[in-house]
Parts: sequence; structure tokens; C-alpha cells
Amino acid sequence: MTTSSTDATWPPRLPADFTWGVSTAAYQIEGAADEDGKGASIWDTFVRRPGAVRDGHTGDVACDHYHRFDEDIALMGRLGLDAYRFSLSWPRIVPTGAGKVEPRGLDFYDRLVDALLDAGIEPTPTLFHWDLPQSLEDQGGWLNRDTAEHFAQYAAVVAERLGDRVKRWITLNEPFVHMSFGYGFGVHAPGRALLLDALPAAHHQLLGHGLATAALRNTVPGAQILISNNCTPVRLRSDARSDEDSAAASAYDALHNRLFNDPLLLGSYPDLSAYGMPDPSWAGVVRDGDLATIAAPLDGLGVNYYNPTWITAPADPAAGLPFDLAEPEEPYERTAFGWPVVPDGLTAVLTGLKARYGDALPPVWITENGCSQPAGLQDQARIDYLSGHITALARAMAQGVDVRGYFTWSLLDNFEWAEGYHQRFGLVEVDFATQQRTPRASFAWYRDLIAAQRS
Ligand code: BGC
Repeated sequence: MTTSSTDATWPPRLPADFTWGVSTAAYQIEGAADEDGKGASIWDTFVRRPGAVRDGHTGDVACDHYHRFDEDIALMGRLGLDAYRFSLSWPRIVPTGAGKVEPRGLDFYDRLVDALLDAGIEPTPTLFHWDLPQSLEDQGGWLNRDTAEHFAQYAAVVAERLGDRVKRWITLNEPFVHMSFGYGFGVHAPGRALLLDALPAAHHQLLGHGLATAALRNTVPGAQILISNNCTPVRLRSDARSDEDSAAASAYDALHNRLFNDPLLLGSYPDLSAYGMPDPSWAGVVRDGDLATIAAPLDGLGVNYYNPTWITAPADPAAGLPFDLAEPEEPYERTAFGWPVVPDGLTAVLTGLKARYGDALPPVWITENGCSQPAGLQDQARIDYLSGHITALARAMAQGVDVRGYFTWSLLDNFEWAEGYHQRFGLVEVDFATQQRTPRASFAWYRDLIAAQRS
């Protein structure tokens, strides 16, 4: 850890209009997987695949937020939040992904939005946080260009219903993670292990983002539109600085970071030659006009940051990928997930974005940052993690990066994808047998931080 709440630079003084929030996602908290006409999502299917999720856990009930959102908004009120980032379940609203709309799904989000506004908390929905309607996956999912069009139609439906009250929208959550874990390696839904043949899922998600942006702007006057990208600083081990290692790091950076940020902010794809791209099939995927659609102006870039990635040259270059993932040799503290705790990586991400994109970089919002820690209410390690990262973002701001808000992942312990309920990211502990919510020490700490920033 570089800092904690006792560090001399703590607490940083952020601008008075800086937005403080928490983030969640529909499949991870809502439950009610089969209620009020909701269609199946790829996660409803994937969790039933033997071995896909630790201990066979599912999101069928999750935090039962669908029935307990009032209680959860009361918790947010106690935190004194400015904003709440949540996601809309596409199959709850359009059960088969295209065509017929389910009014009860829209009604749920309508009630949620009104309750947030009553509590003085700005709703900040994400349109897609990985729970694609299964019917669309049956037609190829994000490998099929049509999914981008269906996504824009769904965006128009929700904008029509919620756009009178919701002004800040996030189109996609982490298209890199969805492409790579879902379609590249098959460890997330839809569980396809296509390696580089997953790349069209990147382009079609980005195209969906661009088309949805246009739909939102048509329907919601004054909409503020963001996308949330997972960003990682790519690092080399200090004992391995050969040219091959540097080339591998650059190739990884192109795949994880620039493949998603460049088309949005520069209107072009990065050099993907390390991946044998562009090949003729990629030319068929990226059609004339797509990049202009994708690069439509954004009001903000959402950055989700958890940790850096260490890379070496591949041990077996014939194995398919031009890099190997490595472990740092430094003895970093680790989260319960085993992820290294590296707050300065967030400063590096933010200053790196500014250096690469300059004036093309819109204001940045940290739309996720947090850590899994062992169960229990005394979570000083989480407080240290959060204070270190908030200090790190203040340092980036002092170096000229325009950061407007910070959303902690997450309000509640929840369904952590392939890890089921084994990784706990919440400011609030959830007993999944009783649905009892109990705020942790970090909850009071975050509440006090927000209050102090305002005083
Ligand atoms: C995702 C969240 C997830 C978190 C922790 C992010 O990649 O957007 O859904 O729970 O990381 O793994």
C-alpha cells in the first residue's frame, strides 16, 4: 500500500461538485431471475453449466434487490451518495432481446429511478452489464452484427420511458472483459473459447455503443453519455526487460486498453498486427462508416480500475497469443481474490489516458474501483484500498486529469460471476441465507469521507 487514511496526503480535497457514488449490476444483485416476464439471459444459462461457477452458485436470488430496493436505497441515503450506478437487465425489458417489450420490466426500473430521485440520488444506469438475452446469443450474440442494432432499439425503449428523469447514461460495461472472458476464454457467459475469433465481439459491442448513443441523444435532450472501460496499466517484471517482453506488453495494451479507447476517442483501431490483424475477415466486420458511429462525441469516459497487469513474452509463441500473463515480483498486498493492491496504477491509468488522447479525452469518471475482502464487518483492508485509490485519483487530478466522479464497487456483497458468492466486494455485508444487510466499517468510513468533502 502506498497510503492509508493516516497518510499525510489524506484526505484529498476534491472539488465541491465531485460526484460520489457506488456501482452495482443487475445480474449480480437483482435476483427475480424468472419473474414478471423476464427472459433468460446468457448468465441464467451459463450458471447451469456444470463447473462454470464455483459451487454451482447462481444469480437466481442474488441480493433479492428486485424486492428489496427500497432498503438498499435507504442504505445509499445513509451514505450520502450523489449518484448510484446500476445496470438495466436487457432481458427484463425486452425478453427475447428484440421485439416485444415487457412493461413490468420497465415498471421496475421506473420505480427504482423514482425512489432514487426521492432520496436525492442521481440514477446512472448502464444499459449492458453482460446479461445478454439468451435468444440473441442463440443467433450468435455479439459475434452477430445484428445484436448492435437490437441494442440500439432497446436503448431507445428505455430512453423513451426513463429519459425524462435519467440524464446520465452508461452504454456498456467493460466490453474488453465481456469479449475476452465471455467469448475468448469461455470463463464467463456465454462460455465460448474462441481466442482471437472473439474479436468481432469487440467491434459489435462498440458499434452497439455508437448506435445506442445516437438513440439516446435522439430521445433524451441533454443526455450525458458515457461508456465504462476496464483500464489496466501494463507492466513488465523488473527482471525481464527484453525487446520481446516490451513487444508483448505493447500487444497486450493494444488488446485490453487501446482496442476499446482508440476507436471511441480517435476513431481508429490500434495496431493489431501482433494478432495477425487486420485479416480479410476483420475487414468484413468493420464496415465503412462504423468507426464514425463509434467515435460519436462522448460526455465522459468511465474508467473501471482494479489492478495493473504484468506481461512477459510468450513462452510458446506458437500457442496463439503474443503475450503471457505474469506475476509481479514485488510483494504487493493482495485482496481476497489474490489481486495485487496497487493504487498508483490508477494514477498511471489516468495520466496515461491524458497523455495518449490529450484534448480528445472527455472528463473521466471512475465508474468502478474496490476490492474483495474476507467476510466480516471490520474491513480495514478495504478502507486502506479505497483511501489509497482515492488519493491516487487526486494525484492524477493534480497532474491535470479532469476526473468528475468516483463510484465504489460495490454497495453490497453480490454474485461475483464465476466466483459465485465467494468474493465479497460490499461496503455492506449480505447474509445470503437471510438477506440481512449489515454495514461494514468501510460503510461508515465512506459516509464520513463524503460528508467531510462537502463540509
Ligand atoms: C465488473 C464487475 C465485477 C468486478 C469485480 C468488474 O470487472 O464490471 O461486474 O464484479 O469487476 O470483479
